[in-house]
Amino acid sequence: MQLGLRLLVNGWKQSGFQHFHQGRSASSLEQVRCVHSLRTGEAAGSGTVDETLRALSVSATASASANVNIQLPDLPYDYDALEPVISSEIMRLHHTKHHQGYVNNLNNALNTIHSTDHVPTLVSLQSALIFNGGGHLNHSILWTNLAPVGKGGGELPSKDTALMKAIENNFGDLSTLMSLMNTAAAGIQGSGWAWLALNRNLRRLEIVTRPNQDPVVGAYTPLLGLDVWEHAYYIQYKNDRAAYLKNIWQIVHWKDVANRYEAALA
Ligand SMILES: [Fe+2]
Repeated sequence: MQLGLRLLVNGWKQSGFQHFHQGRSASSLEQVRCVHSLRTGEAAGSGTVDETLRALSVSATASASANVNIQLPDLPYDYDALEPVISSEIMRLHHTKHHQGYVNNLNNALNTIHSTDHVPTLVSLQSALIFNGGGHLNHSILWTNLAPVGKGGGELPSKDTALMKAIENNFGDLSTLMSLMNTAAAGIQGSGWAWLALNRNLRRLEIVTRPNQDPVVGAYTPLLGLDVWEHAYYIQYKNDRAAYLKNIWQIVHWKDVANRYEAALA
């Protein structure tokens, strides 16, 4: 539990997760830290997640529930804006059903964590936290990784950007990167994601894959995700994952990817 939550929270922090919270002056995670700090007398923000969980396991009460209420982020475009690459029907279902489901289940898991001191219950929530927290994080990045044609979608990064220089250094050229990402995504057994990510330890770009909704965390900062869950393409592309992966590049928002890269380097 502690490892899983620590990895997930690190991923949230590295990916600007708090930007997807709404209706609070501080992120829920920050508030969790404050709750923990009040219990232990620490200065706010100084406790680790391990310490927070340890405190929860011995001192949390139902009356101290954090009442976490993470919100589904709005899409930055209309549901039909990515047509014909991705149909309006897929986008609406993907956003309002699948992503909303991850948000709902994540809120349920977090509120249970913050309202019980029953350790077996806390431990049993590990997979739900990874799956739904990862699902929320992954899709929140995905929506901004895409853009309509004419509004940034498919517009290649300019040669003088840090992202393009890194792509050329690590992969040779952009078309090679696309080909390698498609190969990685096509090879995922079942459901999962292929990512272009920054390995912060080695200061280089890498292509990584994750099963299910496992988020890209640890030494990596996710920059561009390819969602190869069937819910992302099956209504339109049926079993032809390769066609979906070929077309998706028409709507990749490279400006967003470049911004994420520059922020990760800072
Ligand atoms: Fe998805």
